[in-house]
Amino acid sequence: MIIEPKTRGFICLTAHPKGCEQNVLKQIEYIKSKPTTNGPKKVLVIGASTGFGLASRITSAYGSNASTIGVFFEKPPKEGRPASPGWYNSAAFENQAHKDGLYAKSINGDAFSNEIKDQTLKLIKEDLGEIDMLVYSLASPVRTHPNTGKRYKSVLKPIGDTFTNNTVDFHTGEVKEISIEPCSGDDIDNTIAVMGGEDWQMWIDLLKSENVLSKDFKTVAYSYIGPSLTEAVYRKGTIGRAKDDLEATAFKITESLKDINGKGYVSVNKALVTQASSAIPVIPLYISLLYKVMKEKGIHEGCIEQIERLFNERLYAEDLQLDEQGRIRVDDWEMRDDVQAKVLELWQEATTETLPTIGDLEGYKIDFFNLFGFDVEGVDYDKDVDEMVVIPGLQS
Ligand code: NAI
Repeated sequence: MIIEPKTRGFICLTAHPKGCEQNVLKQIEYIKSKPTTNGPKKVLVIGASTGFGLASRITSAYGSNASTIGVFFEKPPKEGRPASPGWYNSAAFENQAHKDGLYAKSINGDAFSNEIKDQTLKLIKEDLGEIDMLVYSLASPVRTHPNTGKRYKSVLKPIGDTFTNNTVDFHTGEVKEISIEPCSGDDIDNTIAVMGGEDWQMWIDLLKSENVLSKDFKTVAYSYIGPSLTEAVYRKGTIGRAKDDLEATAFKITESLKDINGKGYVSVNKALVTQASSAIPVIPLYISLLYKVMKEKGIHEGCIEQIERLFNERLYAEDLQLDEQGRIRVDDWEMRDDVQAKVLELWQEATTETLPTIGDLEGYKIDFFNLFGFDVEGVDYDKDVDEMVVIPGLQS
């Protein structure tokens, strides 16, 4: 079929297998140019199909020849209806990994559930025996609690006061003011239940109790801080509370892994266009300006560059530097004083008319469409493509 982008707000309902494949191959090439000797060897990635999780899987496999198991929640294709992009990414990754003699298998389902945890445990036992690294990179709006069956919904809201600021509709380029009402009721607790650390801890507890974590095992989850411009809706909002909880969980995990010298870390990553971040108000305008400034300074990175730096210069480097709260920082370039001062200056000037010049709206849009395999160089979108792509190592 011919597959074209069909957008609705900040989501795209279609995805292109060839474009997704190109994106994955490009990331693989990048990592092949940065090999490492002491990276992980047997890796489980939860949230492995897109964004930072996919980059983590590729960095493990191609940076240090790791065997990888990827867990994700993606829509398979149906005749005449393309799959979600993470499906095509995972197929492309596994096809290439298998060609290159690397072990790679995947599990598609709800990582919050006991069933998927048990299935993953079984696969580890059967195929790998143990793992030396678990990357926790879930971004989900909902979670059904595996023990109570209660369904929690996360919200992206400020706490206390209404937040008013500018944002951009990146499809039309219109810069406009938006107001977001503060959270109410159980919003904070619900958001913590979805995006906080409980599920990460559950994975670790299960795998530890079944003795499949190696000595010196490491686990990392991803967090975000960002500037004062976005803090009311991000770091000091409901999602920020969930990130506080996630960060606190890293210490609990380290404590629970003492006997195997295991470590739990949180890495604070840079703001990037992913399916998760395009849903957050204000962030698209911030990212458009940030991209412009970081590209001009020659310090722009995508997910793969971020994770390569995280693995090689932080997690698996001789000397791991942490911030005063015990977190790994790869948002260091985003948060540099000169970068933030420039973004703040541009923020005051950003209007529908000025943004195309003072910001990188074009870069934002390209990155957004790239997520779904569109606008990718070298792909002929007029050519018929088979939507019924199979993930070769998918477990049923
Ligand atoms: P993403 O939307 O690209 O990836 C989310 C992944 O989670 C996908 O693999 C998806 O299949 C999987 N997933 C979602 N629900 C699932 C479920 N119930 N069961 C199994 N898999 C499920 O998101 P992104 O942006 O890569 O986010 C990953 C983490 O990085 C999140 O914790 C996010 O807060 C954090 N982060 C993101 C930043 C950004 O700017 N995008 C910046 C810093 C941190």
